[in-house]
This record gives sequence, C-alpha cells and structure tokens, in this order.
Amino acid sequence: MKIAFFGTKPYDRPWFEKLSPESGQEITFFRPRLTKETAPLADGHRAVCAFVNDELGRDTLEILKKVGVELILLRCAGYNNVDLEAAHELDLTVLRVPGYSPEAVAEHAMALAMAANRRLHKAYNKVRDNDFSLTGLTGVNLYGKTAGIVGTGKIGQAMINICRGFGMDVLAYDPYPVSGLGVKYVSFKELLEQSDLISLHCPLFPETYHIIDSKAIDCMKDGVILVNTSRGGLIKTEDLINGIKAGKFHAVALDVYEEESGLVYEDRSDDILDHTTTARLLSFPNVLLTSHQGFLTKEALRTIAEVTLDNAEAYENNRVLKNAVS
Ligand code: NAI
Repeated sequence: MKIAFFGTKPYDRPWFEKLSPESGQEITFFRPRLTKETAPLADGHRAVCAFVNDELGRDTLEILKKVGVELILLRCAGYNNVDLEAAHELDLTVLRVPGYSPEAVAEHAMALAMAANRRLHKAYNKVRDNDFSLTGLTGVNLYGKTAGIVGTGKIGQAMINICRGFGMDVLAYDPYPVSGLGVKYVSFKELLEQSDLISLHCPLFPETYHIIDSKAIDCMKDGVILVNTSRGGLIKTEDLINGIKAGKFHAVALDVYEEESGLVYEDRSDDILDHTTTARLLSFPNVLLTSHQGFLTKEALRTIAEVTLDNAEAYENNRVLKNAVS
C-alpha cells in the first residue's frame, strides 16, 4: 500500500524507513502537515499517515477521498483532530496507536511537574549566567502530599505508579473507574479540593472541553501544581492565566495548550507570533511549557512505527481492525 506520510520530522523516519519494506508498505514522506491545502499531495496514495497537529476536518477528508485515499493512519493515540462523522460519511477508515508508551507520557508529566516545582527552567539559565543565587527557586516537597489524577487509563495509571514512588497519596477521578488500582476514587470536585498536584490524563471530548475553568480553579488548593500532558482544550487558558495572576498556583506545567497548533514541532524563533495566550503563559516565572513532546522517547517512536504499519497491514489483508476509531 502507498502511504502519504505528513508532517515528517527527522525523528519520525528511522523506524518507519526500517520497518516499512518488510511490512510491504511504500511511504512517501512529506514535510508539510496535513491540512486542506496540503491534502492534494496524497493523490495516488491509498492511505495517509497523520499526527496530532494535522487538521483532519471535513474539508481535508473530502479532498483525501477525492484523490483516492481510503485509510487514515494516525500515528498517535488521541483522535480529537479528526472529524469522525465526516470520515464515517465518506467511508474513510481511521486507525490509531493506542497506548504506545504510557510511561513515556507519564514520565514527562512528572519531569514537567518537578522542573516547574523546583524552577529548574530558571535555575538552568541562571547558572549559565554565573548567577548562583537561589532567590526565586524555592520548591515544595512532593513526599507526603496528595496527587490527583484525572483519567485513569493507560497514562493515568503509569502516573499513579510514579506518584506512589514519590511517596504521595493518590486520589483519582474517572467516570469509568478501574478496579484494583489501589487508589481512592473521588468526585472531580473533591479531587480539585484535596490535591496538591493535579495531572490531567483524560481525552479531549465535548464533555471534557474546558474541564479546568475558573470554577474548577476556584475549588483548588492555594499553591497547587497543575500539569497537562493530555490535550490543550481541557484547560480554558484565559481562566488559567487569571488564576496564575491571582497567585493560585505554585507551578503550572503544560506539554499541551490551546494555541499549540501551528507552533508545536516548528522552529518559529525568527517569527513574530500573533498568539496571545501562549505568550502570556510564557511570561510567568512559575509556568513551564514544552512542545507536545510527551510521546518522544526512543521506545515510543519504535512502537508507533510498528503499530502503524501493522494497522496498515491489517486493513490491507482484511484482518480485524482492533485499533479502529469509530
Ligand atoms: P486511555 O483511553 O487509556 O485513558 C483515558 C481515560 O480517561 C479512560 O480511563 C477514560 O475513562 C477517562 N475519561 C473519559 N472521560 C473522562 C472524564 N470526563 N474525566 C476523567 N476521565 C475521563 O488514554 P491514554 O492512553 O491514557 O491517553 C490519555 C490522553 O493522553 C490521550 O487522550 C491523549 O490526549 C493524551 N496523550 C498525550 C501525549 C503527549 O505526547 N503529550 C501522547 C499520548 C497521549
């Protein structure tokens, strides 16, 4: 099968190039991300391979269908960037890679939490400037504190284990609790009220859109640490900024944010950005942003390539599509 691979970055290629010949797939690597403007590049390919920042709205899907694409291979777990209703109407199959490395994302969530907590982002730059003073770097112990995990799927569970390793008490909220995790499930409000560290691990659905807004922030403890490695739309950024300005948070650490599309995975250092909330977030000393890189470990990249190519083979050979998004 010919696959048009969009948004290619150097770290994407090695495993796909190594594994595609033996799986019988022929990949054309395109650098632009997939949008309605770039979709015609898929002409002559039966499948497209897309990532989190590609735009798979109705317009794009209609063009893909017109140029002969049948299959959307998402090389990621989340699928909130795909208009599933349109895909269904156009008879486009959507496959994804669920849980390719929950530990990769959870470890990044804790790395972010700790870096923001202990102000490592500031400390790194200070020492490089021969500023060995400690003012502004005071953190808090996590040991003995309470972690609140929102969403106890694969990544949430990995985060629970990490928090336990830090000697934290763990609370969880999930409308579909998992038995045997040894955590105390509480209501969303109770989690907000009792947690010292809140980490978001639920998908972005209409019902989770802006679950962290001013009302939720008001419920949180003063001095809370908030981490989001899930999807930017979970947090209403303007309300978050108001909360930060009001001194609510000890630290905020975000791998994902509402305005990330068009920013993440690109070098925009020479550009004047018209984004407003991202720039404001970057102006606070207790806020740390990364560029949607929770997935980026060697182990995860290998599994993403293996599962994506296996998804393509399953489709081609009419095998059961266990990773179908419906
Ligand atoms: P999963 O499907 O294993 O778990 C999601 C959990 O969220 C489920 O237990 C589900 O019941 C729960 N949930 C559903 N609605 C909820 C609600 N209203 N409130 C609280 N929990 C709710 O998904 P997984 O693999 O753990 O991934 C979670 C999310 O992490 C993905 O949806 C994706 O957005 C994000 N992600 C981010 C990455 C990054 O690079 N930063 C990489 C991979 C995933």
